[in-house]
Order: sequence, then structure tokens, then C-alpha cells
Amino acid sequence: MIRTSICDLLEIDHPIALGGMGSASSPAMTAAVSRAGGLGAMGCHYLSPEQIRERTAATREETNKPFGLNFLLFDTREDSFAAALELRPAVMQFAWARAEQELSPYFDRAHEAGCKITYMASAVKEAVRAAKAGADIIIAQGSEGGGHVGWMGSMPLIPMVVDAVGPVPVLAAGGFADGRGLVAALSLGAQGILLGTRFLASVESPLHPNFKQAIVDSDGHDTQLSEIPDIAAGLVWPGAMTRSRRNKFIERWAGREWALRQHRAEAIAKLRAAREAGDVDEGPLSMGQDAGLIWDIPSAGEIVTRIAQEAEEILMRTLPRLVGTAN
Ligand SMILES: Cc1cc2nc3c(=O)[nH]c(=O)nc-3n(C[C@H](O)[C@H](O)[C@H](O)COP(=O)(O)O)c2cc1C
Repeated sequence: MIRTSICDLLEIDHPIALGGMGSASSPAMTAAVSRAGGLGAMGCHYLSPEQIRERTAATREETNKPFGLNFLLFDTREDSFAAALELRPAVMQFAWARAEQELSPYFDRAHEAGCKITYMASAVKEAVRAAKAGADIIIAQGSEGGGHVGWMGSMPLIPMVVDAVGPVPVLAAGGFADGRGLVAALSLGAQGILLGTRFLASVESPLHPNFKQAIVDSDGHDTQLSEIPDIAAGLVWPGAMTRSRRNKFIERWAGREWALRQHRAEAIAKLRAAREAGDVDEGPLSMGQDAGLIWDIPSAGEIVTRIAQEAEEILMRTLPRLVGTAN
């Protein structure tokens, strides 16, 4: 079994974490990842205090293992944040603060509530800022990933962040979907991986079945970075664009973002209806390039077990064969 410093810090069996996805979270998926020995997480971005209490209780009914609650700092509601702290989750998973926003008020309150803190950064400077403010773990997220991402690919970003924030441990995110990815991340100096897209195509994922199938059908070459989903939603994200599936919706507005701004109300209404209906041509689907590595829809627990076993197999059998014996 692969154990890293993150397993001890978070009291988990496998160095594998679920990204708290505000637009695609469910107690069932969170609990399934934690039950399997990974770290589950729930996106709280769109949730009221009451919904956070209900969903945390539902998760705790399914598991007594640790999990995290995720907040996007540039757009955090004080009442929701305070409600989350009262629940004393094992982990508060933060991401995307504005450059001028102070991190320590959030981090200090989370520590006082007894939580461990993770902060997701897509650039070295941001990772260092979060480590200095007291984050227990930095998540280094490369631009291959699904959803909002920065400009640096995982391959250079992860070792750069590892070097910059040490001894604070790093979880690698963005483009990881299997045991090969976990081994690669460990080789780059990370202590584990955090995944989004892989878990979206799981039994417990709240996505419409058509969207799960679109991830399975993807060859990984059909994603695009754009600001189109944010323009439609009326959001100004600090330093990120969205990686999503290149569908009719994205193609219609690409290069015509000015027009989308003018037709926003109409566009968002259509987009929401398409998401509900499972219309993969017109509904937005955030997913990473690692969609090309995903070919089935297993349970979230099986994904954790499979990644851990595959990584162990590579470390114990495949890689040692490559090291020659001196004579
Ligand atoms: C649909 C979707 C929604 C996401 N929402 C959030 C979020 O609310 N908060 C957050 O910290 N990360 C969010 N992310 C990013 C993930 O936590 C993670 O960094 C990313 O998915 C990793 O790349 P991967 O998709 O290649 O695994 C989201 C990702 C996706 C695909």
C-alpha cells in the first residue's frame, strides 16, 4: 500500500482526493471516496447554510471517515462559511482567492475550528502566498484539468510548487485519472493526487447520464479553454478560464464573446435547460484532457481502489525492472 505524509496528515488510507466541485457535488460521491480510503470533498459554492448542514449530515450518515468542504474564496458567502466551520469538517478545501484578498482570516478561523486546510494554486506565487498564510497542504493544479484552471501545465508546475513551498506537502491536480498519474505525481515530488473529471464519470456523480457518457466518449482532444461559461453565468473569475467540452454552445460564442455579453440572460436560461435535459451539445460540461483516459463509469470507491492498486503495481513491478544492478 502506498502511504505518504498526506495519509498521516489527513488520516486517510490512500493519497487520493476528490476535488470539491461546486457545480457537481453530492453527499453520495463525497462519502464513497472517503469510505474507500481517499479524501472526499463537497463543493459548497452554490449552497446556503441550510443546504451545507443537510448535505454534510447526509455524508456523515454514509461514512465516519474524514472529508472536506470546498469554498471558492473570491465568492464566499459569510453565512455559508460560518455554517461550514460550525460543522467542524476534517478539511476546509479552499481555492481561487482574489490577488488582493487576505487568506489568513479564512485560514485562522478554519484552524480554530480544528480543520486542516488545503489551498489550490495554479501558479507558484499563489502557492507560496497560501503556504505563508498557514495552509497545511497546497494543491498544485495544472491547466490540463477540468473546470477553472490557470496557464501552467502540471508537468512543470508541480515540481516548481513542491520546491517553493516545502516542507508543506503538495497534492497534484489537473490531468490525473489513473495509477500511472499517481506514480507520475509522486515522482514529481507531490504526496498524492486530487481528481475531478475522473470522479464525474462515476456511479455516484450527480451529472446527467448523458454528460457522464460524453466524458467516456471523449478522446481528450475535445476540450477548450474559454471564458464563455463564466460570461454566460455573469462571473468574473480571478485569473482563470474554464476548460470544458467543445460543444455547439462553446463554438457558437467563441470569438463572439462580446455578443454573448449582450444576450446573457437568454443564453443562461438555455444553458440551464440543456443541463437539466442532458443535452450535451448545448449544456456546458467542464472536463479535463484526462477525459481521454476514462473509458467506464464505475463506483467512486472502485476508482480510488483501482488507482491505488495500479500505482502500487507500477512501483513494485514495472519500475524496479528498469533499474540495472551494478556489477
Ligand atoms: C465540473 C467541475 C467543477 C469544479 N468546481 C470546483 C470548485 O468548485 N472548487 C474547486 O476548488 N475546484 C473545482 N474544480 C477543479 C477540481 O477541484 C480539480 O482541480 C480539477 O478537476 C482537476 O483536474 P481533472 O479534472 O483533470 O482531474 C472543478 C472541476 C470540475 C471538472
